[in-house]
Amino acid sequence: MAEVKRIGVVGLGAMGAGIAQLAIEGGFECVGRELDAARGDAARDRIGHFLTRKVEKGQLEQGARDDAMSRLSTTTELSDLAGCDLVVEAAFEDLAVKQELFRELERAVRDDAIVATNTSALSVTQIASVLDKPERAVGMHFFNPAPLMPLVEIVRAERTSDDAFETAFAVGKQMGKTPIRCSDTPGFVVNRVLIPLLNDCVRVLDEAGVTPEDLDAGMKHGAGWPMGPCALLDLVGLDVHVHASEALYEKLREPRMAPPPRMVRMLQAGKLGRKSGEGFYRY
Ligand code: CAA
Repeated sequence: MAEVKRIGVVGLGAMGAGIAQLAIEGGFECVGRELDAARGDAARDRIGHFLTRKVEKGQLEQGARDDAMSRLSTTTELSDLAGCDLVVEAAFEDLAVKQELFRELERAVRDDAIVATNTSALSVTQIASVLDKPERAVGMHFFNPAPLMPLVEIVRAERTSDDAFETAFAVGKQMGKTPIRCSDTPGFVVNRVLIPLLNDCVRVLDEAGVTPEDLDAGMKHGAGWPMGPCALLDLVGLDVHVHASEALYEKLREPRMAPPPRMVRMLQAGKLGRKSGEGFYRY
């Protein structure tokens, strides 16, 4: 198995910043890449804020927080990822975007570096197909919010080498996650189940004439969910969910996979959830 000391993260949005936080908390050096310096600074501030909260709550020593932050650097240049042993891309969920990024990454990193994608609904095999060495590619699918959700799915694509697969698994573990191994099938494990389930929840809103508040209370108190489906969709983002839903529907052709019309209308109206200030709830 390859030894990993330095991790690159491409894209420092909510997911990428969360992954970078996990990397530095896990003792890795981390280089985060964003398109402009302002976004890199925003991600750094976000990570710093969450680590400070941990100190305030007695979950982390001040010294450990400062050490972790000192292991984080940000850049706008992919060439600054040259020294990374493993790079996780957490860019926009679009096949062409991710393929172009993988092409550029392969030129930037060492010959033996591993490249991972945090895609939630695209095929890792297809993203990796543009690489000269597709055996170095693997899926590392984190859940939102990445620092809090214990799972990471380690996805074996068609050509993933055992070395890349097991190294990614070990890195997930060192980040404090509970990794599981799975194949590159649509939605992998959790989204294959969760996406149609959330779609059903939204269909029930109209069928049963129930309010988002009551549906959320129902699933929290009757099914033991940590948060209700409407609150969860607002957290994930309606845009992210609809996109993943459509991608799975395209591949599996199961009617439950298709986003319900109510959700599509919300998306068209810009009601994306927390990120836009309104979804099922107002923020
Ligand atoms: N990043 C880092 N730290 C964060 C954070 C974030 N995004 N959000 C919160 N925190 C930190 C905060 O410091 C917070 O403490 P303070 O509020 O005191 O500052 C601390 O974590 C605890 O936060 P909460 O009190 O909100 O934690 P909680 O106990 O209520 O649990 C939860 C929150 C983990 C999100 C829980 O509600 C839960 O498990 N919800 C379900 C989430 C879920 O199902 N996610 C999967 C989505 S699907 C997906 O991701 C797949 C995909 O491909 C789209």
